[in-house]
Order: sequence, then C-alpha cells, then structure tokens
Amino acid sequence: MARRKLIAGNWKMNKTAAEGAALAKELKAAMVAINPNGVCGESISQIRDAEGTHTAEVLVCPPITTVPAVVVELEGTCCQVGAQNIHWADNGAFTGELSGAMLKEIPVSYVLIGHSERRQYFGETDETVNKRTKAALKYGIKPVVCVGELLAEREAGQTNAVCERQTRAGLAGLTAEEMKNVVVAYEPVWAIGTGKVASNEQAQEVHAFLRGILKSLFGAETAEATRILYGGSMNAANAAGLLAQPDIDGGLIGGASLKAADFAAIVSAAK
Ligand code: 13P
Repeated sequence: MARRKLIAGNWKMNKTAAEGAALAKELKAAMVAINPNGVCGESISQIRDAEGTHTAEVLVCPPITTVPAVVVELEGTCCQVGAQNIHWADNGAFTGELSGAMLKEIPVSYVLIGHSERRQYFGETDETVNKRTKAALKYGIKPVVCVGELLAEREAGQTNAVCERQTRAGLAGLTAEEMKNVVVAYEPVWAIGTGKVASNEQAQEVHAFLRGILKSLFGAETAEATRILYGGSMNAANAAGLLAQPDIDGGLIGGASLKAADFAAIVSAAK
C-alpha cells in the first residue's frame, strides 16, 4: 500500500496565540485555494483530490500555548495540530514539562520528539527520545521521531552510523503494531535553518538506509508502511523534487511553515 504523504510544520518558538490564529486563518484560505474540491476526507486530517483519492495529511506544531487558538481556527479543515515535546512520566516533579495526559486534553494528535534543537540545547539523549516516544504511544499521540547528523559527522563519513544509532535507540522496544502510529523524520542538522537543503539524492540515500534499519528492526511490511519525512530548509521551490523521491514520505518544515502561501505550496507539491 502506498504511504500517504505527511506535510508537517514545526513552528518552533514562534507565534503567540493571536499571531498563530492569524497564521492558521491564512493557512486555511491558502489550503482551500489549492484544493477547492471539498478539501477533506472522511477524517478531517486527509486531503483528497477531485477523484476522492487520499493525497496528503497535513499537520502544524505550534508552541503549546498557541495550540488551542490554532485548533479553534483550523476546526473543520484537513489540518491537524501537534505538540513539540512530551514528558515520559504521567505526572510529578518535572518543572516545565508536560505529560501525555495534559497534551491529550488540549488535544494534539502528533508530537515531535528528539528534534536536533532539543538534543543540542536541552540535553535530549537517545534514551530520553525513547522514553518520550513510548509515553506518546501510551497516550495515543503519534510520535514524529527526529534523527539526523551534524555537519562534522557528515564530513567524517558518519551519517549512516549516527542516523542508525539514533533510530535504533529512539525506537528501542517498540512493536511492529506500535510502529503503525510512528513517523520518523530525517533532519540533517546542517540543513536546518541554513538554507542549505540536502540534495534529492543525498536525502533519498539516507531515507533508503533508514528504511533498511526499520526492516531489520520490525520486518519488511512495517518498514514499507512507515513514513519517513525529510526536514531541513524544505521550501516551496525544492519540495517537489524531494517529495518525488521514492523513500521521502513528506516534510517537516520549519521556516517555510510560518508563511501560509509557502506551506500550502509544499502541501500542493505532495499531491
Ligand atoms: P527549516 O525548515 O527552517 O530548515 O527547519 C527544519 C526543521 O527543523 C523542522 O523541524
């Protein structure tokens, strides 16, 4: 079965609730403009084309305090709303963190886990990525598990080794059944926010490698069914080329997701 593409926007620490509602409103208009034929499938998360075929799934991940305003604004559209982090404990003395139960009641459908900015600035490790991933699944929130190498690691020829380590550790102990709700995102750190996008070939090579790792962990069927997103300077101009690669199943978009027209154009490129 073909994997349905997922186009996900990571707003990072941008947009207050008022600003986020305004962006969501623009996004709604832009999405209707690119997809006027009824817009949504039977689940509001699916965009369908004129023939009723599933084309893409769309997600935005605003800062958590902005999520409720965005949820209200996007109600009845194809766009789902996600969080950017989740704690592994059910509750307790973890100042500044949010549990799965808290996220679930907002509500969010997806959560980003292990983004390189969390690894770089907030001490996220492969082990905590794994714990957060398990917590998300426990609460019925779909984890988007991020992996990717630093520039120095790529230059040292360690890209595959780093991505393999992060993937194996991040997904350790999960079952093939649980993997039905997991998305992997390959984000080369050197491409994030730099304007230096990976070439179609560079990205495809790592995605194919990661699918091989998924196969060795969970079997061929799960590997074929799991979506692997590309992230790192994806924009309206380069999205189509990346999304046409056989193992690239969508995008995790930072900067370009803050501009409604650009994000809608990337959604359009996924069709
Ligand atoms: P940019 O699209 O701004 O490079 O960010 C990518 C990213 O980090 C998405 O999670």
